[in-house]
Amino acid sequence: MFAKVYSGAMHGMDGYLVEVEVDISNGLPSFDIVGLPDASVKEARDRVRSALKNSGFEFPSRRITVNLAPADMKKEGPWFDLPIALGILAATEQVPVEGLAGLVSLGEMSLDGVVRSVPGVLPMAMAVAKWNSHACLMVPEENAGEGGLVQGLVVLGVNSLTQVVQYLKEGTGILREQVDVEQMLAPTEKPGLDMCEVRGQDTAKRAMEIAAAGGHNVLMIGPPGSGKTMLARRLPTILPTMTWEECLEVSKVYSIAGLLNKNRPLITSRPFRTPHHTASTASIIGGGRFPRPGEVTLATHGVLFMDEFPEYGRDVLEALRQPLEDRVVTVSRVAAVLTYPADLMLVAAMNPCLCGHLGDPTRECTCTPLQVQRYRGRISGPLLDRIDIRVEVPRLEYQELEGEPAGESSAEIRCRVEQARNIQRDRLKGEGITCNAQMHGRQIRRFCTLERPAASLLRQAYNRLGFSMRAHDRILKVARTIADLEGSDQITLQHLGEALQYRNSDREQ
Ligand SMILES: Nc1ncnc2c1ncn2[C@@H]1O[C@H](COP(=O)(O)OP(=O)(O)OP(=O)(O)O)[C@@H](O)[C@H]1O
Ligand SMILES: [Mg+2]
Repeated sequence: MFAKVYSGAMHGMDGYLVEVEVDISNGLPSFDIVGLPDASVKEARDRVRSALKNSGFEFPSRRITVNLAPADMKKEGPWFDLPIALGILAATEQVPVEGLAGLVSLGEMSLDGVVRSVPGVLPMAMAVAKWNSHACLMVPEENAGEGGLVQGLVVLGVNSLTQVVQYLKEGTGILREQVDVEQMLAPTEKPGLDMCEVRGQDTAKRAMEIAAAGGHNVLMIGPPGSGKTMLARRLPTILPTMTWEECLEVSKVYSIAGLLNKNRPLITSRPFRTPHHTASTASIIGGGRFPRPGEVTLATHGVLFMDEFPEYGRDVLEALRQPLEDRVVTVSRVAAVLTYPADLMLVAAMNPCLCGHLGDPTRECTCTPLQVQRYRGRISGPLLDRIDIRVEVPRLEYQELEGEPAGESSAEIRCRVEQARNIQRDRLKGEGITCNAQMHGRQIRRFCTLERPAASLLRQAYNRLGFSMRAHDRILKVARTIADLEGSDQITLQHLGEALQYRNSDREQ
């Protein structure tokens, strides 16, 4: 007896269709799964056996072989329980075969047949819609909203094996999931943080605005308690809204990581990730025994905030170099090399030295020169080279603390940021990118042309300060953003001058 049902699997960010073939023949009772299943898939055997029995169905005591095709891709994940159970039920004629023709199912099962939520439904739903626009996707109820984000796909949310069988036999008992995308795109009011609460620190605020407008990396350096963490935490309030494509890509990443909210499966606000400095390389970059997207991927289209930057492990910091340059991260696995997006903005904060008071006119630094050198040396030159904007956040003067804080509100800053982003989006439309930070070689030459005085200033600075070619390009990108914030087509001397000022510390290396 033979039956075939459909399910899905993932390779990196992309889902693909899996054919689950079940063959039941005479012989000694056995239950084998072939087609490169990993340990988590093999465990389906025990869950399926118990779930079928405990839901009141017959589990055949014969020779059962399950094949997951294509057989050359390694299958991981717990969502094969439901399709395997359906395959066995169909092969033993306990459910009608007709209902399974265009049905793709995903779901983990408990031993009593309850269907549990699984990660990765969104990318797999996208793959199903591509395969057959009339297909029907059966997923755990908690994941139904996620599947429903894919336009035109019929999604059925289920919660138990008995419910599924009743539906396949009688066509009743399951509701189709309707997702109101409009409502999900509506902004959620989150009162709280606002840039106007930060007193003084005008240079740092300006740097934040430029970084937000162009998606540039920032490093804040300053003594303890000057407002670095405070500024960074308020950055999300001035970031531009995401496009529909960006929302979908971020939601896909969170779906794979199993972090989507079941009631609001579309992520509409930019991610803001704050991994602790004790985090491992695998958790920041991705990978591990079960491949998971790391923090750099979870921060895609948003911010990765690394507070106390030099305190992170050396391996972690060096591993950041590749994703910061390529905007994707490659995770090697035994059977495959996976690529995840890492299109993020890095915001880092650190003290100038171990005691934190180097360069402070009012307090003496107690570090020895060697200690200062060691502390700063934790951030390697190549990593620092990838940070476009470095800004000092000095100790505040007392007069800046007095009275009401009078800075601009986040809403006002955000308005300018949005305008600058719109200009960039229009300019870069044909290039497949959306902001200045994403430009590379050819695009920089094309879009960052300097006025003559600005060009000669850059030449001088390049020769005198010993910039790398990368620093040269990154300065041009920041200057482009500064010009965009002003609505200027040309990059003038003034724009370039400001961009150079944020790379001043290159001289110290
Ligand atoms: N510029 C500022 N305006 C208003 N309040 C401030 C400012 N700077 C610091 N504070 C107050 O001090 C507290 C500590 O600031 P914050 O955590 O940002 O310091 P930090 O620069 O990150 O210091 P550290 O280097 O020790 O991490 C804030 O919660 C805030 O109450
Ligand atoms: Mg801090």
